[in-house]
Amino acid sequence: MQTSETIHPDKVLQDQADQKVQRTVGTVKQADKIKPHTYLLKGEHADVMLQFHQHAVIRVQLVFGKEPQWFTTPAIVKEASEMRGTETELSESDTQFLIRCGSLTAVIEKAEYALSVFKEKDGESEIVYGPAQFRWEHEKTPTLYHPKNEMSHFYGLGEKTGFLDKKEEKYTMWNMDVYDPHVPSIENLYVSIPFLVHFEYNRPVCGTFLDNPGKSVFDMRSYKEHYAIEIESGVLDTYLICADSLKDMITQYTALTGRMPMPPKWSIGYHQSRYSYMNQEEVLEIARTFKAKNIPLDVIHLDIHYMDEYRVFTWDKTRFPDPKKMMEELEEMGVKIVTIVDPGVKKDPNYPVYQEGIEQDLFCRNLEGDLFLGDVWPGTSAFPDFTSPRVREWWGNKHAGLLADGVSGIWNDMNEPSVFHNDSKTMDMDVVHEYDGNRRTHKEIHNLYGYYMSKGTFDGMKEQMEGKRPFVLTRSAYAGVQRFAAVWTGDNRSFWEHLQLSIPMVLNLGMSGVAFTGPDIGGFAHATNAELLTRWTQVGALFPFCRNHSAIDTPYQEPWRFGEEVEAICKTYIDLRYQLLPYMYTLFQEASQTGLPVMRPLLLEFEQDEQVFNLCDQFMLGSSLMTAPILRPSTEHRTVYLPAGEWIDFWTGERFSGGQHIMVHAPLSKLPLFVKAGSIIPMKVDGKLQLQVYGLNGEGRYQGRLYEDDGQTYAYEQGKCQEVNVTAQESGSTLQLAFEQVQSGYQQPDALLQVVVRFTDSKPLSVAGLSELAAEDVPLNREGWFFDEQNHDLVIQMKQLPDSLQVHK
Ligand code: GLC
Repeated sequence: MQTSETIHPDKVLQDQADQKVQRTVGTVKQADKIKPHTYLLKGEHADVMLQFHQHAVIRVQLVFGKEPQWFTTPAIVKEASEMRGTETELSESDTQFLIRCGSLTAVIEKAEYALSVFKEKDGESEIVYGPAQFRWEHEKTPTLYHPKNEMSHFYGLGEKTGFLDKKEEKYTMWNMDVYDPHVPSIENLYVSIPFLVHFEYNRPVCGTFLDNPGKSVFDMRSYKEHYAIEIESGVLDTYLICADSLKDMITQYTALTGRMPMPPKWSIGYHQSRYSYMNQEEVLEIARTFKAKNIPLDVIHLDIHYMDEYRVFTWDKTRFPDPKKMMEELEEMGVKIVTIVDPGVKKDPNYPVYQEGIEQDLFCRNLEGDLFLGDVWPGTSAFPDFTSPRVREWWGNKHAGLLADGVSGIWNDMNEPSVFHNDSKTMDMDVVHEYDGNRRTHKEIHNLYGYYMSKGTFDGMKEQMEGKRPFVLTRSAYAGVQRFAAVWTGDNRSFWEHLQLSIPMVLNLGMSGVAFTGPDIGGFAHATNAELLTRWTQVGALFPFCRNHSAIDTPYQEPWRFGEEVEAICKTYIDLRYQLLPYMYTLFQEASQTGLPVMRPLLLEFEQDEQVFNLCDQFMLGSSLMTAPILRPSTEHRTVYLPAGEWIDFWTGERFSGGQHIMVHAPLSKLPLFVKAGSIIPMKVDGKLQLQVYGLNGEGRYQGRLYEDDGQTYAYEQGKCQEVNVTAQESGSTLQLAFEQVQSGYQQPDALLQVVVRFTDSKPLSVAGLSELAAEDVPLNREGWFFDEQNHDLVIQMKQLPDSLQVHK
């Protein structure tokens, strides 16, 4: 706890007096091509390396030694690090060096180093980046300065508090177990993604990825005309990404740092967790209650009490006497188990995991060879050096027992790593990691510890799961973690403010390449209440990762703990998630292909609309659904911003034109939810796969997409998947639907497919080739069509998708 002493004048004024004279690269005397696509600019006080990558990516590194640092962190995928742009061409004038590569030209000022990048588009050359400079007091802590102005907006930076736009904010990249409330003044949490998107209205977008896993600071606050990126160790190694749009930016950034593989479908369902469900019987009882109450549930998480005194890879035989049988029983109810696995290995000479770690030299040590020991849940513990491939392999194999018992997924926690009673709250800075052969101190690569732990877990599980997709959930991470794990946002609290904050946090994680994320629904610490749990479950049902989790010593917060009304509302929205699963799964597949997030700020879909530059109490699911949840207590009304276009109330069919704010009434049972008119959304309703068509009012063209596969194996990589592009054209009294099968290697068994044209004015005259169904034929799943008078929906039932369909009105 801090006191007012923190702002004692002596301290503050001394800090200011400490400002010293700064150095710069100085004059640039020479530009040498040192490798294909790679230049070294020889400066007076330091050199700068420029390397041109694929598309519009330039690696820019400040070099103090003789040679650049060639290797990258594992965040950069191998293919991207090897891919180079088109031919480069160096020229010079009296005042500048110019390096051209494709549509980009890097311009370097000779008199005093400054780098600008211009991009050519439609014959015009526009500045995308710069003029940027380096400055430092000490070579170890250089800073990159880049101009900003009042039109500048900032996004990305991973898991941070605050609003969507990081304008006027300052953040530190240093993974930390933060049990303080996650308030705006918290500059770092569990995840560090040093990727900053600089966006200005109607201009090309520029992103900077700082590939440095030590401590760094992104400061958009302290200087009026600049933002600054400062490092505290290692090399100032950046990748500039010059993009045409924000979506293009995310796609390019994820080409560099990788994309999420398809997760198992069950992991996109509803998860229930608690620290902890204390024994086997309690776990079964939770699952049975979900069943009895008909609330969908895919996963229960087992927190630390399933282990024998918190020894990883063991079971507490008193609390969980027969885990295998428990999981078999759960499997019959359609429920999977995810177990927590922390990095700390209990120091216990009789514990095989500790013995092996010591015998095979797998734990972290300092240079002198002393074992690093720290306190976590099991007491004094050693920490595997996950930065070594040998250790990751050992750790991955250690999951065999849990998998054989029937565990389906692994939850990696405390992997910043969190260390109790240590001044640093983490590992000692002088631990030396193997780091895939590039030995570095903990200080230099701290932010990679959780990343490597998830990688070891994922790779090990994949190896052992005989073709099934692993699920790994992690608390700590670095850029690129999307290739191995989903991320939950750690120990939030049951505060309305934390419900609000979870939206921009997840949105910026998505804009930083991590699409599979979500907060603890209901809030982890502190006591939730009926209203908060209800509102949080409503909106949480639309988060990519959807898990209710609460801390030891807080009231239980499963959906039924606050009476029948709350239970019914929570059930409605968990049901809604399952109805939307075909759409969500399609979005997950899109994320795996393009990197675009599942949950998106409106900004991503409407980047020309200034109203949405910092809008984060509303968000989109893909490009068709938009929600504006209630985020305050005792509130039934709120304004909702509708961007350009036409919007349809998901519940009532009421139409609104965009470009306006509307007032909506949302009593406790209602989550305001809108569909962008002109969308086709795949859903599963009453066990039937539906393609729901939300038409425009009048003539127009609509589109949607459906992706399906077996949901659990990698067979989709061999084409065993179904991918359909659906388009609809409405003109006059005809609605013409077309179904383009991009992939047709998979079909849901015995699926009856329905095309539902929602909220249509009147019963159509005919549907070409299909007959109208009599009321008694509808439940028999016959092919044909009927008009649902009550909802004004036209429902067309088919056993197989045709190439096209024609509806006459
Ligand atoms: C940490 C995790 C939390 C977990 C607890 C006990 O606080 O963030 O989710 O329940 O440890 O394992």
